[in-house]
Amino acid sequence: MTTILVTGATGRVGWHLVKILSLYDKEFYLSHRMMDSSNPSLRQKIKAFKDQGLINLIELDYGNPESITHHKLEGIDKIFLVSPYFNVLETTKKFMVEAQKTKSVQHIVKLSAMGIDLSPTTYGGLIHKQAEEIIKESGFHYTFLRPNFFMQNFIKQQYHYSTNGKTFCLPLNNARASFVDIRDVSEVAATILHEKSNKHYNMAYDVTGGERFNCSEIAEILQTILGQSIMYTNVSEQRARTNLLTTGLQIECVNYLIDFYRIIREGRMRRISNVVQTILGRKPISFEAFARDHLELLKNRVELKSIDNNN
Ligand SMILES: NC(=O)c1ccc[n+]([C@@H]2O[C@H](COP(=O)([O-])OP(=O)(O)OC[C@H]3O[C@@H](n4cnc5c(N)ncnc54)[C@H](OP(=O)(O)O)[C@@H]3O)[C@@H](O)[C@H]2O)c1
Repeated sequence: MTTILVTGATGRVGWHLVKILSLYDKEFYLSHRMMDSSNPSLRQKIKAFKDQGLINLIELDYGNPESITHHKLEGIDKIFLVSPYFNVLETTKKFMVEAQKTKSVQHIVKLSAMGIDLSPTTYGGLIHKQAEEIIKESGFHYTFLRPNFFMQNFIKQQYHYSTNGKTFCLPLNNARASFVDIRDVSEVAATILHEKSNKHYNMAYDVTGGERFNCSEIAEILQTILGQSIMYTNVSEQRARTNLLTTGLQIECVNYLIDFYRIIREGRMRRISNVVQTILGRKPISFEAFARDHLELLKNRVELKSIDNNN
């Protein structure tokens, strides 16, 4: 049997991946950051895993690379590697060094990002690229998943929305991009992790949606599906940066997003790949389907903002 480790299991891509892998069996491993009393949401997520019968949990903390040891990785064959927005190179190196000491690890499936081969690339792209190089040099088989901007960002990232919740603000002009649903990314990852042959070894895949949209078109889709007025306002990069910083996001994450916006704005994230169709044998999830499936979350967000505005 192949033993899989999912890092970033409490994150958006990892969470869906865990859901899909659980349909096969519950024997795979999940990693999470160190538990401490200041992080009740992590405690809740871990409880949710245990309640589903997922009990193979390992503490691997990117803030403390010493927590990544070969003892914890021994017996794992395949690692799904998610990098948060800091310590990426240090932790990738540490993962590879410790994985090399095991007798088991064979294959690294790394969550990377589309656009990393562009010149110039982005802040995040450069780091992902260097992390990919570290993995290549480690000698393991690898598969790099490089998704476009996630559709789910239109729900989660509240700093994109005006205080009345009816307008979302991004510095994207009217550039179109092939936004992708996180569920497609996770399902592609699950399929690759379960593949018995070596057909995905040493490959890099751009994972995209099947259509291109600009933000005005996205506003129209959201408006139709939510039955509420939703508008898009283009803002300057400086304004977007200020908005992001006022939410308390880490500077690394802000730089990452600002640069990602830039390459979308420049029309360089338009590429539609056939990866979802080829690997999953179906079309990518459409923006309409994404919006319908997240109707309640999208409505709550708009309503939450409207309440904030009235107070
Ligand atoms: N956003 C996009 O549109 C986009 C597009 C393409 C590629 N990507 C790439 O996708 C990756 C992010 O994936 P995601 O959306 O699933 O991220 P996410 O939802 O932000 O999750 C990040 C994961 O990393 C974990 N993490 C954070 N700090 C940690 C630490 N100190 N030690 C151990 N784990 C830690 C988080 O744990 P907690 O739950 O405990 O915080 C969480 O499980 C990034 O590499 C990004 O470059 C993003």
